[in-house]
Amino acid sequence: MAKAAASVFSCPECGYSSGRWFGKCPGCGEFGTLVEESKFPTTAPAAAAKPLLRLVEVETEEAERIPTGVPELDRVLGGGLVRASVVLVGGEPGVGKSTLLLSSLRAISDTGRRVVLVTGEESRAQVKLRADRLGGAGAIEILPETQLETVCATLERERPEVCVIDSVQTLAAAEIGSAPGSVAQVREAAARLVRVAKEVGIAIFLVGHVTKDGSVAGPRVLEHLVDCVLQFEGDRYRAHRILRATKNRFGSTNELGVFEMTGAGLVGVPDPSQLFGRSEVGEIGAAVACALEGTRPILLEIQALVSPTDLAMPRRVATGVDPKRLAMIVAVLGRHARVALGSADVFVNVAGGIRIDEPGADVAIALAIASAAKGVPVRDGLAAFGELGLTGRLRAASQAERRLDECAKLGFSAVLAPKGTPGRRQPKVVEADTAAAALRAGLAEGAGSD
Ligand SMILES: Nc1ncnc2c1ncn2[C@@H]1O[C@H](COP(=O)(O)OP(=O)(O)OP(=O)(O)O)[C@@H](O)[C@H]1O
Ligand SMILES: [Mg+2]
Repeated sequence: MAKAAASVFSCPECGYSSGRWFGKCPGCGEFGTLVEESKFPTTAPAAAAKPLLRLVEVETEEAERIPTGVPELDRVLGGGLVRASVVLVGGEPGVGKSTLLLSSLRAISDTGRRVVLVTGEESRAQVKLRADRLGGAGAIEILPETQLETVCATLERERPEVCVIDSVQTLAAAEIGSAPGSVAQVREAAARLVRVAKEVGIAIFLVGHVTKDGSVAGPRVLEHLVDCVLQFEGDRYRAHRILRATKNRFGSTNELGVFEMTGAGLVGVPDPSQLFGRSEVGEIGAAVACALEGTRPILLEIQALVSPTDLAMPRRVATGVDPKRLAMIVAVLGRHARVALGSADVFVNVAGGIRIDEPGADVAIALAIASAAKGVPVRDGLAAFGELGLTGRLRAASQAERRLDECAKLGFSAVLAPKGTPGRRQPKVVEADTAAAALRAGLAEGAGSD
């Protein structure tokens, strides 16, 4: 008689389980996700009950935040690093993850806190070289190690306040047979480090590599395990880098940090509107949007190109704008503002490689497209914000006051805004209630003739 299998292989991604192992999960099609689990749970010793604690009696000093010394990083974290929290920092190779965290560690160590850098990717000498370039190593302590048990034991003994693991993909636990970087290893490493962080009270940054589609490599459970997930994005060919939170247990996920990569490391850009919100006077197909990222209004130049096409399905190509949003704006322009784009390709691009998720940029996108389609520039010194509805009506955008302040700071003389926006003298608020009215008010003279 065949012996009953003592273990079962299950997929943490989709929950599929089977009596044998598959390289590719038959449930969700992911590779290498099946992990072996014992079918018969070991009998646990009878557990003793624990006393309950009233939440009001919990001391809150543990939730005090540690300033990271990098203001843009603090902003994205929601006002500093929370003690005993685990932050996953993902980003493409070479985007500057190690640079950002090394300068932050240096700044934290300068305030007298104990910090440790665990490096599995670079040698001590390489890290030293980078630290010298960034202006010194402060009191950073370093542990070049890839064995997970050693890293956890060292952290438990040394008890630093902040630790950086560069990267989580290089750590491996001896009892798991698979190679470092495999799903099982990465998950085990993250789970154990989260436990150490919570028990000992260390704030840990985990550096994670990203896959081709931009998500952090390893199982999605990694994102559930940690407290914050930060994405470091950037254009390889330009010096600007954007840091944003995709998950944050202690703050908003809308905040945005902007950096510039220089020879002396990453320099925060406290005023990104200066950089991305300028357009040339009289340029056709360009408009300035005043979008809101978290609590920060940011001015962004939007460029559009409309070119005739023979394709049965004209192209709608968006960089930095959700393609569905672009399709909707093109449809609203055609239906409600008489900008026919049925036989034209439409390309839209946001300056600086920034991605806009906020609907408040709709009007500026519509203006840029209409300007390109009609060959008429947007009015001089005009910025715009407001959401376009499917009926062609402009909806009020949130936090109008802050947006107007930002436009005033950058010297815009007029702002195209939805009806109902409180007026002011500087900048002048130009109200519009529909998409058609917005184009009439936003495009330079001579556009409304058709
Ligand atoms: N001397 C320098 N001057 C200017 N920029 C530099 C200099 N040296 C390195 N860089 C920048 O730093 C980047 C590498 O940063 P870093 O090593 O922090 O990236 P990373 O995200 O940690 O990469 P990886 O995933 O490979 O570890 C390079 O892409 C380069 O743009
Ligand atoms: Mg690195």
